[in-house]
Amino acid sequence: MEKFAKLVIDGKELTLPIIEGSEGEKALDIRRLRQETGYITFDPGYGNTGACKSAITYMNGEKGILRYRGIPIEELAERSTFVETAYLLISGRLPTREELTRTSVYLNDFSPIHENMKAFYGSYPPKSHPMGILSAMINALRSFYPELVDLDEEMNQTFLRLISKIRTMSAMAYKISRGHRVIYPRPDLCYCANFLNMMFDSPVVPYHIDDDMVRALNVFWILHADHEQNCSTTAVRAVGSSKVNIYAAVSAGISALWGPLHGGANQAVIHMLEKIHKDGMSFDECISRARDKNDGFKLMGFGHRVYKTYDPRAKIMKKMCDIILGKATRKDPLLDIARRLEERALEDNYFKEKNLYPNVDFYSGIVLRAMGIPTNMFTVMFAIGRLPGWIAQWKEDLGDPEMKLCRPRQIYTGHEINHYVPLDERTEES
Ligand code: SDX
Repeated sequence: MEKFAKLVIDGKELTLPIIEGSEGEKALDIRRLRQETGYITFDPGYGNTGACKSAITYMNGEKGILRYRGIPIEELAERSTFVETAYLLISGRLPTREELTRTSVYLNDFSPIHENMKAFYGSYPPKSHPMGILSAMINALRSFYPELVDLDEEMNQTFLRLISKIRTMSAMAYKISRGHRVIYPRPDLCYCANFLNMMFDSPVVPYHIDDDMVRALNVFWILHADHEQNCSTTAVRAVGSSKVNIYAAVSAGISALWGPLHGGANQAVIHMLEKIHKDGMSFDECISRARDKNDGFKLMGFGHRVYKTYDPRAKIMKKMCDIILGKATRKDPLLDIARRLEERALEDNYFKEKNLYPNVDFYSGIVLRAMGIPTNMFTVMFAIGRLPGWIAQWKEDLGDPEMKLCRPRQIYTGHEINHYVPLDERTEES
């Protein structure tokens, strides 16, 4: 039975339909609000605004729940692989063995990139950030591959081409940035092993593929694969709503993810922990600066727009630190600092009152360091993991008849009517 809310504005009563989701989330449908009342809503950052209906990922921020297509993240991290999880997100169900094998074959077939693309890398200054290169290279992919056609099969090949090539392009960016020979993908390696091999193999010292590292990378990318309407996914949906090709929409998502408040936080956490380790910044100083409104310093890797309890991904990432560092030949002092800083923050009233807990980025950098990934590649690693989620959300947006061109309204606060003043008559006040 449909439910309604009543809104009384300027003596006029408006009935607003209530929309309820499959996990009991409720929304006021305000699509008629402006035409019937002249009013719009105001919600900077969209913290209270639903931009779409989605069947891909469910999060419960109060209970720390995260499920992809209904499956708890803990089960997927424990039992699935990144390729299988990518298939689940994009297709809406787990693949059969035959479908998984076919998907893996396609990912291998699509893994090389056009030789002409290598020239692009060479034109970047040596210190270019890999996220800027990646965003541009994904957009450039469109020039090498035909436009999307409507056939599902073609669309799926485009998705797999993107998922396969983002991994090759990222490893290539790393090798070229170090002036090392590019290592090509191998048809005999799975998705994650291929990436590690392209990153670390060399003619001088052959890379030994460690199954635990491969497993850790699968889990790392499963944890990052989707997160409902986060900032970068919103960018992909907004850009995609103009019906531009998927490469351009994903390129926008990479740019949004780069920011330190979003995916760039994993790099910022390591810089913060290094500052504590190398510069001797005390935990008390960290906490007091994080509490100081005027300082601008934030405890990176802490806090979340949705989670008001421990991010379930951070719990898994924290456990991974022990497993993967147990393998590493050297201890990482930053892990001990991270643990003690977390303890200190979680007992502090400011963090308790504001429900600030570790998010996925707090421990992920430690895991990546243990894998040998350089810090400036951390957000690239996040982007590779998030790509299946961006694709799934882009596909859902495009297929939803209720979705339209993304074009929010505003509250204008500028000049009232004003007029042009000829140059010689102008003063600083005009
Ligand atoms: C990701 O959306 C997603 O799902 C993102 C993500 C994904 O998978 O896509 O989960 C990935 O981006 C994780 C978040 C990574 N970012 C960081 O770790 C950066 C540090 N965190 C903060 O910048 C902040 O917590 C945000 C940006 C993550 C969330 O901020 P909100 O929701 O906009 O909340 P807010 O900034 O309004 O914070 C509420 C209060 C504020 O104090 P008051 O103005 O109420 O006094 O909490 C304070 C904030 O100052 N606060 C922090 C803090 N985070 C929030 N204070 C100190 N340190 C922090 N980290």
